[in-house]
Amino acid sequence: MNALWILALEVGVHPISFSPVKILFLNGPNLNLLGTREPEKYGRTTLAEIEQRVSERSARLGAEVEFRQSNQEGELVGWIQQANGKFDWIVINAAAYTHTSIALRDAIAAVQIPTIEIHLSNIHAREEFRHKSLIAAVCTGQIAGFGPTSYLLAIEACVSGNWL
Ligand code: DQA
Repeated sequence: MNALWILALEVGVHPISFSPVKILFLNGPNLNLLGTREPEKYGRTTLAEIEQRVSERSARLGAEVEFRQSNQEGELVGWIQQANGKFDWIVINAAAYTHTSIALRDAIAAVQIPTIEIHLSNIHAREEFRHKSLIAAVCTGQIAGFGPTSYLLAIEACVSGNWL
């Protein structure tokens, strides 16, 4: 890594273009109910509060974010397709669609955007049907089990760029 790359990553800009890293956060079904939904599993933080924390952390790291939620599989697929050429990263909590949606997996595979799968809970420590993620194999990596901090860790991964 040369000095230019190191400087770019330290100030949170894309090392090639020197523009801010652009991250699209997508949230799947029922995440609009966070705060009151099964708080023993998902905590009491609302999605609006998570969005606020994501905005603050992104601003500090020099990243630009857009934050969306939908209960519709097709709408999430559309947003992934439209992200092509507009975002450097997708961070997705696909919620229940993680375990069921070949359409989301195919959309992620179709666009050339590195994608991070995130979950509030540790899906591997829960019911067996949650252990399988249909999107994991087409994602760069997975972050699960850290509550709202899973979202913030994903930003760190996006801006740090080169882990090898
Ligand atoms: C979740 C885990 C999923 O299994 C579940 O269907 C969700 C939330 C999480 O963030 O822990 O809705 O994605």
